Amino acid sequence: MNRKPELARAEFERIAVMIKSQTGMDYKPGKETLVRQRLANRLQALQKTSYGEYLDFVESESSKKEMTRFIDLLTTNKTSFFRENAHFEFLTEHWIPQVESESPRKLRLWSSACSSGQEPYSIAMHLSDKLSSKMLHRTRILATDLSTDILAKAQRGVYSADVAEELSEVQRSQYLEKSRGSSGNYRVKNTLRSHIHFAQLNLMERWPMRGPFDVIFCRNVMIYFDKPTQERLVNRFYDLLDEGGYLFIGHAESLSGTKHKYNYIKPAVWQK
Ligand SMILES: C[S@@+](CC[C@H](N)C(=O)[O-])C[C@H]1O[C@@H](n2cnc3c(N)ncnc32)[C@H](O)[C@@H]1O
Repeated sequence: MNRKPELARAEFERIAVMIKSQTGMDYKPGKETLVRQRLANRLQALQKTSYGEYLDFVESESSKKEMTRFIDLLTTNKTSFFRENAHFEFLTEHWIPQVESESPRKLRLWSSACSSGQEPYSIAMHLSDKLSSKMLHRTRILATDLSTDILAKAQRGVYSADVAEELSEVQRSQYLEKSRGSSGNYRVKNTLRSHIHFAQLNLMERWPMRGPFDVIFCRNVMIYFDKPTQERLVNRFYDLLDEGGYLFIGHAESLSGTKHKYNYIKPAVWQK
């Protein structure tokens, strides 16, 4: 019988150091079972008999392919359409009236940990519904994520019927179409996709874009970072925001205990 390898404390600590240096994510003691659940099948597929042997392989491989796989397996990608709807309501009530009252200009929004795409597609749907066509025409949404697997999924924009059901019938018929074949899946229409540019980006590394952004969504990823990492990140976002621009964070996240220059607007909404 094939027994699943044990995860020794030193191996868990080594994983925690590797994942933190690559992604900023803070795997604290207590997450051992989660780590085992996420990596066990990979070890088996590669016929590695211990975590140490697997980690040696991850680190030795010059193409970094296995490092990417390792990161993909250890990142949490949970997301949904119109998650934390208060941010979308805020756009409708405050931001959209404000930009519509100004003279037409380019609008730039960034979904900075976009996972499988529901967040940027929700932004695009919402702005398509609420912005005038002259402003929509000038709107660009950047959608980035660390994980190449999940980003490929976001770019494909194909969702099962269950996931598509998070949208109203009107939204589904307006912005999605049935995939070809008998899968029952839905696919995001090209008209919606055309507002979004997808790119792989690690929030811990150098960012190629200069901004300025009107709104940055950084939701449900900072929760995995320690306070110093969160502080560095929100200050980097600050530098990239336009004056008056907004940072949206997850409602389970907080900027307390970090030094920053944002004004607090309401829960999970901060302004430059
Ligand atoms: C839980 S999902 C959140 C998705 C979406 N923002 C939401 O709120 O529904 C977290 C995402 O953060 C990404 N992530 C983790 N560390 C990252 C990093 N250092 N740089 C960029 N993305 C990262 C993961 O790949 C994952 O897709």
